[in-house]
Amino acid sequence: MNTTFIDACYGRKTEYTPVWMMRQAGRYLPEYKAVREGIDFLDLCKTPELCVKITLQPIERLGVDAAILFSDILTLMEAMGAPLEFHEGRGPVFPQTVRCKADVDRLVVPEAATELSFVMETIRLLRGELKVPLIGFAGAPFTCSTYLIEGGSSKAFWETKKMMYTAPEIFHLLQRKITDATIDYLQEQIRAGAQAIQLFDSWAGILAPMDFAEYVLPYVQEIMAALKAPDLPRVPLIYFANNGATLLELSAQSGADVIGLDWRVDIAYAISKVGNKAVQGNLDPFALMLPEDKLRQRVTTILESAKEAKGHIFNLGHGINQFTPPSQAKLMIDTVHEFSRKR
Ligand code: CP3
Repeated sequence: MNTTFIDACYGRKTEYTPVWMMRQAGRYLPEYKAVREGIDFLDLCKTPELCVKITLQPIERLGVDAAILFSDILTLMEAMGAPLEFHEGRGPVFPQTVRCKADVDRLVVPEAATELSFVMETIRLLRGELKVPLIGFAGAPFTCSTYLIEGGSSKAFWETKKMMYTAPEIFHLLQRKITDATIDYLQEQIRAGAQAIQLFDSWAGILAPMDFAEYVLPYVQEIMAALKAPDLPRVPLIYFANNGATLLELSAQSGADVIGLDWRVDIAYAISKVGNKAVQGNLDPFALMLPEDKLRQRVTTILESAKEAKGHIFNLGHGINQFTPPSQAKLMIDTVHEFSRKR
């Protein structure tokens, strides 16, 4: 087992800087598109044999140091009783929005071992195949709620903020329920064999720090604490608040071992803000379009700037774009390995 990724998460010395990519299993890979053809995305997420195959694709092609379970953050919301559809070109849609107390009351806290058994089965199968650590994941309660409240993706998050500011008790009730569901779901992923956990807070960056502290952070802290329960194997915990440059000190209080960084923040500055924590990031996904010499330069600049970090896991600042040539991703990964090994 290649433990470089795990070691870097805990701030132990490694021979080189480990690297993986958010959304590394996905549409930029022709072999993903081949599997995806003719099957609905959600059906795909519920077919463990295919999820295993897709999870392994970037490991084989690119030589990344960690695998991330193929699934989606919103499958848990569906298991909570919110009907979910994926529309081609429009992303996720929740036709029944969650906007009042009765809507929240209708949601259930599913037993992950049975209701999301396809995820656990995927993890068990993957552990038999993988030689790099397997990352499990979930969406953070705030990010998941935005999809339920807005009914899908959003730009302004009007309905979300309306609920936060005009009906905070309903908003908190919803966070409570998603937090309970997420704790059971992630604990079960660890029991099934996940060797690290990442909590994706894709939309936390739309909030003022004081609202983040009141409406988001306490639930993230509760999840992180529950994942350190003494009866569970201890695995590295990563918290990624996208667009979170103004939330770094608060994110560092989440209880995570690793703070994920998007590309909008200078990595040396971020390291100075998060204190005694490892960091993960933070190349702009679109920088993969740069010509070879410029891309190499960007990668080495990030590696150099991160040398004071307690630990550094190289990653993109967000998911890889679907139009990226896989050879560019490979160039980035090889550069991370070669340059950090030499240093
Ligand atoms: O490789 C991996 O990273 C693992 C698989 C993974 C997917 N989604 C597969 C996927 C992970 C970790 C996610 C997380 C996810 N899903 C997030 C958090 C990370 C982020 O991007 O901010 C969010 C917000 C979602 C919700 C979601 N799922 C959206 C908004 C969309 C549509 C937009 C898009 O990129 O298509 C999805 C669909 C989705 N999830 C795809 C994949 C591979 C594309 C589906 C397809 O094949 O058509």
